[in-house]
Amino acid sequence: MSIPTIEWEGGLDGKAKLIDQTLLPGELKFIYCDNKECMWEAIKTLRVRGAPAIGIAAAMGTYLGIRDVSVNNFNDFFLKLKEVSSYLGTARPTAVNLFWALERMEHTAQAFRTEPLDTIKEFLFEEALEILGEDRDSSKKIGEYGATLIPKGSTIMTYCNAGGLATGGYGTALAVIYAAKEQGKVNRVFVCETRPLLQGARLTSWELMQAGIDVTLICDNMAAHVMAEKKIDAVVVGSDRIAASGDAANKIGSYGLSIIAKEHKVPFYVAAPISTFDMKIEKGSEIPIEERSPDEVTFITGHRIAPEGVKVYNPAFDVIPAENIRAIITEKGIVKEPNTERVKKLVEG
Ligand code: MRU
Repeated sequence: MSIPTIEWEGGLDGKAKLIDQTLLPGELKFIYCDNKECMWEAIKTLRVRGAPAIGIAAAMGTYLGIRDVSVNNFNDFFLKLKEVSSYLGTARPTAVNLFWALERMEHTAQAFRTEPLDTIKEFLFEEALEILGEDRDSSKKIGEYGATLIPKGSTIMTYCNAGGLATGGYGTALAVIYAAKEQGKVNRVFVCETRPLLQGARLTSWELMQAGIDVTLICDNMAAHVMAEKKIDAVVVGSDRIAASGDAANKIGSYGLSIIAKEHKVPFYVAAPISTFDMKIEKGSEIPIEERSPDEVTFITGHRIAPEGVKVYNPAFDVIPAENIRAIITEKGIVKEPNTERVKKLVEG
């Protein structure tokens, strides 16, 4: 992305600068967070969203939460840090990158426990920026690996937003599209609108159009028809958490899309950094699925579209079974036909 989704402005006493994604595509506005509450709210309300970007926000939020803590010893400092971590961890449950980043910040503090507290704070600041920098690099590599799977003249379908807006760099699924496009392999991209919050319509079509890519927007229920018409050569999506088996949680609707792709023999790819793997979880059924407000279903961009009082079920994610995934693309390489053995070899090898 030419405009970073999330960055740090200033030095140790600076602030996080984020694109408010709830306002796109109508308005490109930034918010500035200089405390943990602001960051929690930004994650919770999807001002910042997408698994890797949530991880970066959590790391910066941790630093913001401990920057002004004044205690006399490391144990008290670490207790405060744990409080900040637990608080930020309540913002959203599914994207493991959030918890991965919080744990990384805790490990950093522990690694420097014998240093003066101000020095530990500096190390935590640097760690948050390091997480941002690493994410930029890994999204580039994901793009390079992923492009090798895309044939010349391809039409690709994508879902939700796994682009620059969702990461510190080029994205995951969209990084694959950008890299393949640079190699002259992409003719066109079909974007599913992605109800309820329309990340596909609002964010992905905006982002791809900014990059000069030929975008066609469809409603989610048009995907099967478009695949039956043989218009799609590959589906590429991101992920919020991948179990050791290769089962991958992603935006609600991804599971259905993977079934449709399988039925039409269209390769279905998941692109994600290693920080999205949760090797403590064997299978996708163990992944916690966030449930969000009924209003996200009964309203579309502020307009009520269902009767007041109707019962609503609003799971924000579903799980793509590994057997529906042709390959998982990471910054460390590609796992074809993922299963526990192959995933472990790549992630832990
Ligand atoms: O609820 P969201 O918008 O945070 O959901 C985002 C997704 O499902 C993305 O596909 C996923 O986080 C991968 S982003 C690189």
